Amino acid sequence: MALTSYEAKDLFQWFTDKADILVLDVRNDKDFKRFQVESPYPFEMINVSYYDFMEMEEESVNKVPKGRAIRIVCAKEGSAKYVGEIMVKHGFSDVRYLTGGIKTWGNLLVPKVVHQDADYSLYQFIRPGKASCSYGLCKDKEMMLFDPSRNVDFYIDFAKKKGCKIIKTFETHLQADYIAGSRQLSELTGSVFMGGADFEGTKAGHTPLVDGEIHSFSNGGPDVKVLFTPGHTPGSSTFIIADTFMISGDTVLIQSIGRPDLGGQVDAWAILLYNTIQKVAKLDDSLLVLPGHYMNWSEADENLLFCLPFGEVKERNKDVFSMDETNFIQYIKDNMRKQPAEYALVRLANGNMEQYDAEKQEELDLGKNECAATAYAKAQAEG
Ligand SMILES: [Fe+2]
Repeated sequence: MALTSYEAKDLFQWFTDKADILVLDVRNDKDFKRFQVESPYPFEMINVSYYDFMEMEEESVNKVPKGRAIRIVCAKEGSAKYVGEIMVKHGFSDVRYLTGGIKTWGNLLVPKVVHQDADYSLYQFIRPGKASCSYGLCKDKEMMLFDPSRNVDFYIDFAKKKGCKIIKTFETHLQADYIAGSRQLSELTGSVFMGGADFEGTKAGHTPLVDGEIHSFSNGGPDVKVLFTPGHTPGSSTFIIADTFMISGDTVLIQSIGRPDLGGQVDAWAILLYNTIQKVAKLDDSLLVLPGHYMNWSEADENLLFCLPFGEVKERNKDVFSMDETNFIQYIKDNMRKQPAEYALVRLANGNMEQYDAEKQEELDLGKNECAATAYAKAQAEG
């Protein structure tokens, strides 16, 4: 069979279908270790570099088990195609290469229905390459977005398919780990970009959020209530939808809370976060938490949705929710770890204080997030 291509969304589908495939990543060892594709379920992946295939063809081919469906991943596309031709030449019959390279995996958004009835629809857009989630809320012909990523074409297309106009985009905070899409979406669609105090003094072009205010659609509900929850960043906000869902940004995560040390002011921000956790803890246990990030797929439910009642989230994180202020600050400090150097540049991009070309944005935007404050996350980052 001739060599064919596949797209990042196909790979995610094979993963969720638990298809019997073998992922062959042909990037160098360093790039492979830094960032690789992930599945909700166990799967097989090997890393044999493209250079090895060039220099030691026979030996490299022999490292790949025979008789398997091979899905090749590389940085840009060309080397996967090159290796694919070699595999076909050596008798492998089901070989495909990733169109556009691993960056297309990094930008992939997977839409999931969180809620749908005659009144409104709520979607979670999972970004497996970043382990982050953005959200879309549709009412009649209007749509609001929450924490959209820079893959703006996806959101515009999604809104179009639903027959909706994007009217507002909300940012839970000034993101450090990915380039946000709100500013670009407001330029392209005329939607209003709503942001909190993190955006003060920037050139982001936001409309300031007000604590306690309620946003709604032309035809009324569902209500979107703004709740200021400083700590992860001083301007972090949480959005309560229809008194049912809590879009918590990086404040409350399913496994952990958002680390408050990314701004370099750990003492001040940890106290803010401590006070926020005390305030948020009083919210209704039945609210369904929709987080901005996850650490791994074990946090998802059986439908691969990241959505859990707040009571259960508190139970999972009861050490953090029950600590006194002194212990809390100590806990945060104990679990501090270096943040990727790119984060400072991502912040500048998100405040529109610095402009980067598409290639630089792509480079800054690639890789998993580093936003949670737990010993587990610390161990993973340093391991
Ligand atoms: Fe964050």
